[in-house]
Amino acid sequence: MDTLLVTGGCGFIGSNFVRYWLSQHAQGRVVILDKLTYAGRRENLHDLWDDPRLSLVVGDIADQALVRRTCQEQGVTLIVNFAAETHVDQSILGPLVFTDTNVRGTHVLLEVARELRLRLHHISTDEVYGHIPDQHQSVETDPLLPRSPYAASKAAADQLVQAYHITYGLPVTITRGANNVGPYQYPEKAVPLFATNALLGEPLPVYGDGLQMRDYAHVHDHCTGIEAVLLHGRIGEVYNVGTGREMTNLEMVDIVLDVLGRDHSLVRHVTDRPGHDRRYSMNVDKLRALGWQPQYDPREAVAEAARWYAGNEWWWAPIRSGEFRAYYDAQYRARLAGTGQP
Ligand code: NAD
Ligand code: DAU
Repeated sequence: MDTLLVTGGCGFIGSNFVRYWLSQHAQGRVVILDKLTYAGRRENLHDLWDDPRLSLVVGDIADQALVRRTCQEQGVTLIVNFAAETHVDQSILGPLVFTDTNVRGTHVLLEVARELRLRLHHISTDEVYGHIPDQHQSVETDPLLPRSPYAASKAAADQLVQAYHITYGLPVTITRGANNVGPYQYPEKAVPLFATNALLGEPLPVYGDGLQMRDYAHVHDHCTGIEAVLLHGRIGEVYNVGTGREMTNLEMVDIVLDVLGRDHSLVRHVTDRPGHDRRYSMNVDKLRALGWQPQYDPREAVAEAARWYAGNEWWWAPIRSGEFRAYYDAQYRARLAGTGQP
């Protein structure tokens, strides 16, 4: 059984993946490498730290000596790279760290994988395809047309991963995920932001007309999709992971407010995100052909996520009342006051 180096394993999707993987693979071993940025939180795995199959190394994926040493000392056979700066709005406010981690960090992992002859699975995003016109669904061979600093950094990483396969024959796979929702998502992202604002009785800042479309997929289905590719995917291939069905942000907001029993008067339309991608939509047939299928419809995924926030104030209340406040003010104060962008 492989020993996994799960980078970014203390973040939202990484922690859900680690929990899922260890629940399904009794002989599995997982070493997390995580810088513990604001989005990386030990408490996301509060129930697992006593498990002898799991260990944590705190550090940066861009630190080549650390990555090499960790892989050698821990007998790593497979790197699964979740580590990234992940929020589009943060990438608009401060883009350079996105290049440091998402591009250079991924490049360092590839170099270590090349040196030590390891397989690398890279977690990418539907944002690399850019805005998708009505009627089209992105397939894995579509061109990459990223439009935000975040998406551009993820697209650069994808291309490095593919280049290492073509040039050096490195055994790689890539999954491109849709908008994930579920437990332990940092409340800067729309669904947990709206759910926690609703629970706090604060307004929900909807960018622009709220008719942008996203495929809100449950993180559990992303984890099973990654597992399917790790176990059955073809080396060198890319797989989309989502539900294949989108909804508007206003529909998502309605679900959140209805599940939480809050009034729709909390919705505020505010100044739009610059360069806001209007629609993402992916065809997921290639992953289905591996035998995978999503368990959650997007409406259930959003509803279940909202319920999780209602039941887990212990997790989000300290974040909301702490460091998050400064970001929230910078991002939303002027918008909510009706005086424009941050
Ligand atoms: P997140 O922001 O919740 O977590 C990111 C994790 O990476 C954190 O634990 C953080 O501490 C760690 N990290 C950041 N920089 C690091 C560095 N230099 N070295 C080591 N660790 C570092 O992110 P997420 O939402 O869980 O996303 C995980 C991955 O999935 C990312 O690659 C993201 O691009 C991709 N993705 C996310 C979504 C989504 O909807 N959230 C959808 C598709 C793909
Ligand atoms: O599509 C996959 C991507 O999904 C991932 O690669 C990213 O890491 C992840 O952050 C997410 O990106 P989005 O920008 O789509 O997600 P976010 O939750 O920030 O926003 C979802 C939608 O809601 C988007 O259309 C913008 C809108 N929005 C977001 C925020 C934070 C608002 O209307 N108001 C808000 O305050």
